[in-house]
Amino acid sequence: MRKKIVAGNWKMNLTLAQGEQLINDVLAAGLHLQEGQEVVFATPFPYLVKAKALIKNNPGFFLASQNSASEKSGAYTGEVSAEMLQSVGVDYVILGHSERREYFQESNAVLAKKIDLALANGLKPLFCCGEPLEVRKAETQNEYVAKQLEESLYHLTAEQLKNVVIAYEPIWAIGTGLTASAAQAQDMHAFIRAQIAAKYGREAALNISILYGGSAKPSNAVELFSCPDVDGGLIGGASLVAADFVAIIKALA
Ligand code: G3H
Repeated sequence: MRKKIVAGNWKMNLTLAQGEQLINDVLAAGLHLQEGQEVVFATPFPYLVKAKALIKNNPGFFLASQNSASEKSGAYTGEVSAEMLQSVGVDYVILGHSERREYFQESNAVLAKKIDLALANGLKPLFCCGEPLEVRKAETQNEYVAKQLEESLYHLTAEQLKNVVIAYEPIWAIGTGLTASAAQAQDMHAFIRAQIAAKYGREAALNISILYGGSAKPSNAVELFSCPDVDGGLIGGASLVAADFVAIIKALA
């Protein structure tokens, strides 16, 4: 049975005090997570240690960083390694977010290196893929996403893939208020699962969690999460408001 996950990606938002308040408000909401359901806070780097302390003793709650370095260690000023993240108790690392790809020129090849380092250090990559608007308009989104998967993930063994979560985030839906329709999300998620099945076999495909991201909010989460191949969400803007994030988590049930 694959995991159902709601991950909140705070991006470059909130002060430490605001972040603490948000986590405390979500924890205080009395969520009763079912077996196999997870909630992940992807905080900025400086808040990870504090966030870990806040969520400990709360089963089902996990911590993610929003990035990690493509090198193991050394003279890379400003970078944060997978080993460092592991040492402060980080569970997941978001890799391949479209904002990293676009603003920081992260290629599929660089992401493959980051994924390897994450896995080698016990972190679970939350690997993002998704097409820009012009690709969607040209109806070549399947080929586009297939290439992202192939170039960043397919060097992994089936055993390694068990620790990877995929997030489909159509770029045209991120922070725009435009959400993929449930049918568009389901079609792409089913396509991704079929690709994984073709490469790694049916069991691996059935076990991998595929999250949807892109203007997910309380008003559309239930419909999106009810799609058979949508296993939760990677939430940006709506994860910054405790009541909205809690409502989205409840939509998992
Ligand atoms: O990582 C989260 C995604 O980029 C979605 O962001 O929910 O603000 O559209 P959004």
